[in-house]
Amino acid sequence: MTLERPRGVRDFPPKEMHEHLAVTKKLESVFHSFGYERVRTPTFEFLSLFEAKSGEEIKDHLYVFDDKGGRSLCLRPEATASVARMYGSDLRTHPKPLRLYYVEPMFRYEQPQRGRYREFWQAGVELIGGAGPYADAEAILMASNALTAIGLENAVRIGNIGFLRELLGGLGFDDAKQNKVIHALDKGEMDSVAEMVSSDIFNEVIGLHGGLDAIDRLLELAPDGLKASVEGFRKTIGLLSGCKVDYTVDMGMARGLDYYTGIVFDVKATGLGAQNQVCGGGRYDRLIGLFGGPETPAVGFAFGVDRLVEALNEGGKAVETPRCDVYVASVSEAVRERAFSIAAAVRSGNPGLDVRFDIAGYKVNKALQHASEVGARYALIVGERELAEDAVVVKNMESSTQETIGISGLNPYFSSKRAPD
Ligand code: HAM
Repeated sequence: MTLERPRGVRDFPPKEMHEHLAVTKKLESVFHSFGYERVRTPTFEFLSLFEAKSGEEIKDHLYVFDDKGGRSLCLRPEATASVARMYGSDLRTHPKPLRLYYVEPMFRYEQPQRGRYREFWQAGVELIGGAGPYADAEAILMASNALTAIGLENAVRIGNIGFLRELLGGLGFDDAKQNKVIHALDKGEMDSVAEMVSSDIFNEVIGLHGGLDAIDRLLELAPDGLKASVEGFRKTIGLLSGCKVDYTVDMGMARGLDYYTGIVFDVKATGLGAQNQVCGGGRYDRLIGLFGGPETPAVGFAFGVDRLVEALNEGGKAVETPRCDVYVASVSEAVRERAFSIAAAVRSGNPGLDVRFDIAGYKVNKALQHASEVGARYALIVGERELAEDAVVVKNMESSTQETIGISGLNPYFSSKRAPD
């Protein structure tokens, strides 16, 4: 019998679990501040959901299996396709735009390495039924705000696959040929891009990089039919500048997924090595229609939560693990039951307080040592003498001072000493 974990999956002992949840909680509070509501989709889906538009990167890395009825299923590698499917089947009559988010594990059969797992967590948002610069800017602003909230730098790189596809379409590239160029761009295989596309304009466009100046040049280079789309792009960038978002336009940016039809963006964190992309997203206006729903514009992104936590730890911004607030011990077996009920009363009188009863029944010195090992802020010691006067001893573990406090005064005492959240 083997007790090893499968490759590429992780355990989350308490510290890691706490870090993960603390980061997710902060992301969620930013999502809520923009009015996004949480949804959940199935862990496995029909394989066909991901075959159409997920792109080579993902299609080659699916966990595929047949169920007992012979249906071809797979573990979800991402949730955008699932949310698009859910919208088309269940939510299409809801007032638009719909602001949705999810925090779920995803599965990709990739070569495991630092920051790249076979099961990993995404916190993602999808803004469905919103077209144009305000929707694009909202998605990018929210990603940037969420990174600020957790304390990470957030320079967003913004490209425009929609524009590149239009340009390629004008040069006679069909969808399949466009995908090839986009994938080569995504992988940074510039020689192969130059081989496939000989247009000077295209080659200058993918080299454009910077701020509004890059968009000015894009406008000059754009064929007449694409100038309006560049104006829209400029508006998005202007909105982001107005909100002080740190961004760079990079027209050579592409993404591995095939469903993007407009802007694309990502954020890379420092100190993570090769797998440093902590956020990726973009506009996908044709995915919902492809799944049988009404053609509906949409934009979204997803954070890789595992990588966010790692980036915080790398940057010396580790999330603090919660400490025990009150450790309740007793001096003897005779008062132990009473100590147990005092612990219960302090716990229910102070919601949110971490109150731990000394289950082991240690002698006082050993109990205090254990209290200090678990980082307790206070030790509450129930002794026979004090109990006779309806009181207990409370020791402040940081200052090592102690005082005798009446049992009826314990709740107000601890509620005034609550550690901040
Ligand atoms: P994605 O870029 O494939 O986009 O994934 C989003 C994020 O998930 C990445 O930036 C990365 O942080 C994390 N991630 C991806 N693969 C792994 C892995 N093997 N191990 C650890 N983390 C990983 C999407 O999935 C799109 N659905 C995003 C989106 C939402 N676009 C529009 N709406």
